[in-house]
Amino acid sequence: TTPVVIAIDGPSGSGKSSVSKAVAARLGLAYLDTGAMYRAATVWVMETADLEDPTSVATAVRAMPLVMGVDPAAPGVELDGRDVATTIRGTEVTTNVSKVASNLEVRAELKRRQREIIDQESSPTEAVLSGGRGIVAEGRDITTVVAPDADVRVLLTASEEARLRRRSLEVHGAADASAVDATRDQVLRRDRDDAKVTSFHTAADGVVTVDSSDLDFEQTVQAVLTVVAQQT
Ligand code: C5P
Repeated sequence: TTPVVIAIDGPSGSGKSSVSKAVAARLGLAYLDTGAMYRAATVWVMETADLEDPTSVATAVRAMPLVMGVDPAAPGVELDGRDVATTIRGTEVTTNVSKVASNLEVRAELKRRQREIIDQESSPTEAVLSGGRGIVAEGRDITTVVAPDADVRVLLTASEEARLRRRSLEVHGAADASAVDATRDQVLRRDRDDAKVTSFHTAADGVVTVDSSDLDFEQTVQAVLTVVAQQT
């Protein structure tokens, strides 16, 4: 069988990480969380550079010793030999990540690294994890910039209300009115900042939209698997 590349984009709270991971696991594919790379870059910049100086940020990220794991069952993020999978989900990183991600030199560098991982996992001879079966890569600009040539391209959307509810459950363990309110500002501000450099609210030509607002997790995974079956 020929290797397959599946690209999935979406805003925060769309469920794209958990859905992409499940799709990769069920199809025996590798999995790349590109948001985790921007988050790791943010940790590295906070530790070794000046967040307010774009040249310092770009230089730091180009030299960043990052190793991404691509096993959907345990996608590791190793920065300078340290496991930072938990650190990158922290509030401070989430607050600063859009600033690092808006640096165009940072984007060029991470795009190059993402392309390398995608090419490797979709090469019949070089693939490490998937044995040449391919990869699911998810983020904000995978369907449009990183892998516009992917076999399957999906934009995973959800209503603002559904996204805030999910994010709130994730961060506060609750989705009552006050927990949702506490999440709202941060989620909407990050979406607004991200939308300045990436386009993930409307589907580009040839990209299939899956709206998960009224679907539960399993139904969303099934909807994506249906698109994959139709297009491969
Ligand atoms: O998906 P996640 O919320 O972990 O992404 C973290 C941040 O990384 C986003 O808010 C965005 O700033 C950046 N990002 C990006 N392009 C991608 C993936 C993530 O700019 N392909």
